[in-house]
Amino acid sequence: MAKLVINAWDRKSKINKELYGQFSEHLGRGIYEGIYVGEDSDIKNIKGIRCDVAEALRRIRLPVLRWPGGCFADYYHWKDGVGPREKRKKLVNANWGNVLEDNAFGTHEFMELCEQVGCEPYICGNVGSGTVEEMSDWIEYLTFDGVSPMSELRAQNGHPAAWRVKYWGVGNENWGCGGNMTPEQYGQEFRRYRTFCRNYGDNRLYCIAGGADVADYRWTEGVMRTAAYKGNHRLMDGISLHYYTQPNTWEHKKRAAEFELADYYRGFVRALRMEELIEKHCEIMSRYDPAHEVGLVVDEWGAWYEVEEGSHPAFLYQQGTIRDALLAAVTLDIFNRHSDRVKMANLAQMVNVIHAIILTEGKNMVLTPTYYTFDLYKGHQDAALLGSWLETEEIGDAESRIPSLSHTASIKDGVLHLTISNLSPCRSEEIDCYLLGYTTETTQGRLLQGDMAAHNTFDCPEKVKPEMLRDIKITDGGIRFTLPACAVAEIILDEKKIMGTKA
Ligand code: AHR
Repeated sequence: MAKLVINAWDRKSKINKELYGQFSEHLGRGIYEGIYVGEDSDIKNIKGIRCDVAEALRRIRLPVLRWPGGCFADYYHWKDGVGPREKRKKLVNANWGNVLEDNAFGTHEFMELCEQVGCEPYICGNVGSGTVEEMSDWIEYLTFDGVSPMSELRAQNGHPAAWRVKYWGVGNENWGCGGNMTPEQYGQEFRRYRTFCRNYGDNRLYCIAGGADVADYRWTEGVMRTAAYKGNHRLMDGISLHYYTQPNTWEHKKRAAEFELADYYRGFVRALRMEELIEKHCEIMSRYDPAHEVGLVVDEWGAWYEVEEGSHPAFLYQQGTIRDALLAAVTLDIFNRHSDRVKMANLAQMVNVIHAIILTEGKNMVLTPTYYTFDLYKGHQDAALLGSWLETEEIGDAESRIPSLSHTASIKDGVLHLTISNLSPCRSEEIDCYLLGYTTETTQGRLLQGDMAAHNTFDCPEKVKPEMLRDIKITDGGIRFTLPACAVAEIILDEKKIMGTKA
């Protein structure tokens, strides 16, 4: 039996809801087909946006969506994607398979998607092949509600009212596809572009610098030194980090559902590296920002496999299994634990690309096991992280050793929310959970579980989905329950009201 102690008196950082964000790029069938089908499609849509996908995103309370890239962002010229659709430029998407980009999905369609879903837009501007004027015009077009050339253009294009946009990315991977710059060169560019990222009316931008890949600490150091502050004046609100989990090698990737036990354990070792990366990047950030005002934004993360058989190699379409739901759970636990510095995270990518939560094929839509991880975790959004301690055992093989369990406990409006995963592929675990400073009156639980490679297909779309977690016993000190092998569970506790009060 494993012991878990949750201290409801020990309220730590707020878990920003934006840690549960997603990313969608003009890549493969991520936007076209996956989200946007056009108004004339047979697939049920509102203003061209698939109703099934929008509804699924509302259900997990998607808080923020990053767009239009990725590498595509530093190649994208936003004026190509506004105005009458038939007049929009038809271009080649040179990053992702040289396919046609007809710009049918542009700024208005993206903002409409965010409105339908109820999420914050996170727009990544073009530094690599764009200009300062172009980025500054885009912000004016989106957010200025007075009289100006850009606000008039917006009105002509059918949207007289200004939108609100908070999250603004100043380029993407500018060490690579975003311009092959040095950290100092990008730092200077950030300072210049950032100067013209203006706050119109009461719209306040949160400007995010293009950050490092994996363990490129030189990048974080150089960009922070050059661009975080000008004297005492902070220029940067956030800096990003990209890290993808690759259980094998980039040259010899395997398909998502075709793996051995050794790949399973190695995948977790690599996913858990996120913790070390966050700590080391934050340590560097703290040297230039001792007040911890700059947030770390992990705006690309996920498990990246070989594409599915028969699919376009540049479309990065892959299945998603229970393994991926667990990889997402342990990664979200890391973000939650570091929510004092990690202010946003965006899974790559939301629909039909890499570690997707949704797959589509024509009219059909399938929710992957990872979708359900986000569903089970949504109670942590904007809750206070609680101090806790979990006894875990080491499991794995001779090469890869991992903890058997991972968890997060949080509290919001007196409701205690626990998510806990059992990574063991073969052994169930009884958990004895002690609650300090909290007496529970009622419990509810849900459980996502299956063989490590179990997944949903268009023929069998509901093979993996959450069920009720039964037999949660209220004990003298807390609760006790059993987690099967390869499982993610959510337990919601309601506090016993003492003389009509609630914590
Ligand atoms: O998510 C796919 C690609 O991975 C993105 O375009 C890029 O930013 C990263 O290298």
